[in-house]
Amino acid sequence: MAEKNASSLGIFSRNSLFCLFTIISVMFILSWFFVLRSTGHPHYIDHNLLPNSKLLATSENGDSTTHSQKDVEPSTGNRSILVDIEEEEAPQENAITQSKDEVKCNPNNGVLVAQEKENKVVLKVFMYDLPPKFHFGLLDWKAQGDSVWPDIRSKIPDYPGGLNLQHSIEYWLTLDLLASQLPDAQNAHSAIRVYNSSEADIIFVPFFSSLCYNRYSKADPHHKKSRNKLLQEELVRFLTAQKEWKRSGGYDHLIVAHHPNSLLDARMKLWPATFILADFGRYPPNIANVEKDVIAPYKHVIRSKVNDSSDFDSRPTLLYFQGAIYRKAGGFVRQELFYLLKDEKDVHFAFGSVQKDGIKKATRGMHSSKFCLNIAGDTPSSNRLFDAIASHCVPVIISDDIELPYEDVVDYSQFCIFVRSRDALKEKFLLNLIRSIRKDDWTRMWQKLKEVENLYEFQYPSKEGDAVQMIWQAVARKVPAIRMKLHKSRRFSRSLARSDRGLRLIPSPSNFW
Ligand SMILES: *[C@@H]1O[C@H](CO)[C@@H](O)[C@H](O)[C@H]1NC(C)=O
Ligand SMILES: *[C@@H]1O[C@H](CO)[C@@H](O)[C@H](O)[C@H]1NC(C)=O
Ligand SMILES: *[C@@H]1O[C@H](CO)[C@@H](O)[C@H](O)[C@H]1NC(C)=O
Repeated sequence: MAEKNASSLGIFSRNSLFCLFTIISVMFILSWFFVLRSTGHPHYIDHNLLPNSKLLATSENGDSTTHSQKDVEPSTGNRSILVDIEEEEAPQENAITQSKDEVKCNPNNGVLVAQEKENKVVLKVFMYDLPPKFHFGLLDWKAQGDSVWPDIRSKIPDYPGGLNLQHSIEYWLTLDLLASQLPDAQNAHSAIRVYNSSEADIIFVPFFSSLCYNRYSKADPHHKKSRNKLLQEELVRFLTAQKEWKRSGGYDHLIVAHHPNSLLDARMKLWPATFILADFGRYPPNIANVEKDVIAPYKHVIRSKVNDSSDFDSRPTLLYFQGAIYRKAGGFVRQELFYLLKDEKDVHFAFGSVQKDGIKKATRGMHSSKFCLNIAGDTPSSNRLFDAIASHCVPVIISDDIELPYEDVVDYSQFCIFVRSRDALKEKFLLNLIRSIRKDDWTRMWQKLKEVENLYEFQYPSKEGDAVQMIWQAVARKVPAIRMKLHKSRRFSRSLARSDRGLRLIPSPSNFW
């Protein structure tokens, strides 16, 4: 009896479970059907279901028509090198929205030039009046009177020549800021110096860190520490005491440290700032990374090939490489490639860094080669790439971790060949690849090199679309993210954030970047 009851109970509960399941299924299918009908659209995630998306889209359109779409002429130029970033950009503040319009190809001469001059909005930069020993004093310039800056209308302090020049980015940017204040300043400026730090988009720290490293990293016999170390310590003390630094925790500061060994000590304390670097090879990812920081080109040491009338057939060397030998880190590829390529007759592959007397030879070599190798050394980047661009020698880049300047607006695949290290080390792979590139493909890349070379030129006065302007524009594109970080960091320090006196952020690298 008890057994029978149990089994009938079992049947009953199984039946009711089945019923319940059927009812739920039917209701589920019905509700699905109603959702589809109500949208009147087979794609059930329709904009109608997201009322906010309309608002968002409208405000985006409104925003961009006010200062970009409306003002931009129909695309008559050849923008193919520049990636169209209009789609990806969120609405931004006036000061920087127009950076994307500033770089465009001019169909007349094929180079990239700035447009929209009359209503161009520029990056506002506050520059600390650091004592001269941090900048032009390192160039043996002597201050006159109270001024910490040279009078650039009369004489520009010279930068030492030779290989020091490749990291001279700090010098050109500082000169450009000083020049932006001259009464006859040209419109080329993507950045202007402002004197009220509250009105600035970014706070520039004019420390010539690469020069300081190159000249003063050896401790002199009378002191324990090198001048390079002492100046960095002093810089950290100076910055962290400024109201601008306290206000932001350093997030809106901009520091140039182009030589991979420059700012070696201070970088660990100044990391919230945006750095201008050659690469990230010697930085922990939480101290410097591609989201936060700006990659700047080296200043090339090989002379530009002006009025280049060469072509595929008139450049006898197929592949050119001249560089130091490295046994460290990524550098082993150089050695391996040397053994793979040393017996090829139209390949120039030689070790030895390009020293003063070598520059002439290397110039001749690169100017008469079709392709120029750029292999990772002890850091992922090297000056070789920019020498190749100036020589209109198509760069072949073998450096898996390389970061390239302004890659958010420049498509390097149009004038560079990229090869993974592991492929390059396969027998015959590299030469087969390069020999397979036909004359017309090479000529197309050579043409592009001539169009983009100006993006990598440092000069004073700076000209539209040159490296100085491109770096400022790259900084301008970081400003929205910097503001975002800054605002987020203030969420829980409301009472303090209101006053300039008090905000003490104690950020830690891993929290924010
Ligand atoms: C743009 O570049 C492409 C390829 O380089 C070329 O075919 C085209 O004619 C160019 N257009 C203009 C307007 O210069
Ligand atoms: C600096 O700019 C802020 C914000 O625009 C303004 O409130 C302040 O008065 C300015 N300071 C000076 C000294 O002009
Ligand atoms: C390049 O060409 C221009 C115009 O044809 C000429 O003025 C200039 O002197 C040339 N430069 C060199 C270095 O040959």
